[in-house]
Amino acid sequence: SPSDPDLVERARAAKEKLGSKVFVLGHHYQRDEVIQFADVTGDSFKLARDAAARPEAEYIVFCGVHFMAESADILTSDRQKVVLPDLAAGCSMADMATAEQVAECWDVLTDAGIAEQVVPVSYMNSSADIKAFTGQHGGTICTSSNAKRALDWAFEQGEKVLFLPDQHLGRNTAVRDMGLSLDDCVLYNPHKPGGGLTVEQLRAAKMILWRGHCSVHGRFSLESVEDVRARIPGVRVLVHPECKHEVVAAADQVGSTEYIIKELDAAPAGSKWAIGTELNLVRRLANAHPDKEIVFLDKTVCFCSTMNRIDLPHLVWTLESLAEGSLVNRIEVDSETEKFAKLALERMLALP
Ligand code: 13P
Ligand code: SF4
Repeated sequence: SPSDPDLVERARAAKEKLGSKVFVLGHHYQRDEVIQFADVTGDSFKLARDAAARPEAEYIVFCGVHFMAESADILTSDRQKVVLPDLAAGCSMADMATAEQVAECWDVLTDAGIAEQVVPVSYMNSSADIKAFTGQHGGTICTSSNAKRALDWAFEQGEKVLFLPDQHLGRNTAVRDMGLSLDDCVLYNPHKPGGGLTVEQLRAAKMILWRGHCSVHGRFSLESVEDVRARIPGVRVLVHPECKHEVVAAADQVGSTEYIIKELDAAPAGSKWAIGTELNLVRRLANAHPDKEIVFLDKTVCFCSTMNRIDLPHLVWTLESLAEGSLVNRIEVDSETEKFAKLALERMLALP
């Protein structure tokens, strides 16, 4: 939707008033009306890496979701304050693994006699508590752009990986990139005693996948891939690795949001693409490349509702509040959690 010119002007004026005191980061899934004010845009890896790029900025306004803002707080100095324009911008996947559930899972692995062989690898899309657990147990964080490197590293440290919380990214990376089979993976259900697994299953597994998923990407189906291939001959299907394994297996290319953008930038005029990721990004790409045919993989799938909570009115309110000296919606991770979460995040940033 076209942005309200009055709000655009107010955002611009507040940002100008703040000058170098503010640094605005925007995830690729953000609305156009918000992304136009981002100093840096990126996938979740790039935004984690760049969060500390402006040490002079007192405020980091994070246009994305809660776990991303937490990570930015962990990776920046205490002097810098991270702000999330709408505190209700969470992530349903991140909510699928709580600290209590993960502690219980570790007890299950301990009782099965395998905890010492297990290295936790947690997807960036997780709370700071889960990242702290990961750091404390010798593990690393990964994003969709470095999951293979994180798993390579983890399998050098131990024989098994506990992958949290996205089963699909874990399974897709294990099978597509690591040469593991589906039988090497088991699914740990935090709502069942013992994860719903037998001790024998846990002992035989190489990848223990947490039963979490993205409610947006989980809706793309094998049928949507088959439909688009029938409808658009010669189409290339490019999907995010949070999609189900059968969707990823049927796609031509798989990668993070940053990868998707680069592939389409490099694609020849006249090429045809069906993209399986969040709709704001797909629309922006279609608009940016009128010389290519870019369609959304499945028209019944919609926006990420929590990413979309950050809209222009929230951004204006945030910037104007900060410009008036009022610190709103600060995201601050407590120092004990931060210590171990940072260890895990730094292991990720140090991956080759
Ligand atoms: P990227 O790491 O590709 O930016 O994905 C983040 C995300 O939330 C996907 O749902
Ligand atoms: Fe979470 Fe999925 Fe939204 Fe990404 S797209 S923020 S994983 S719900």
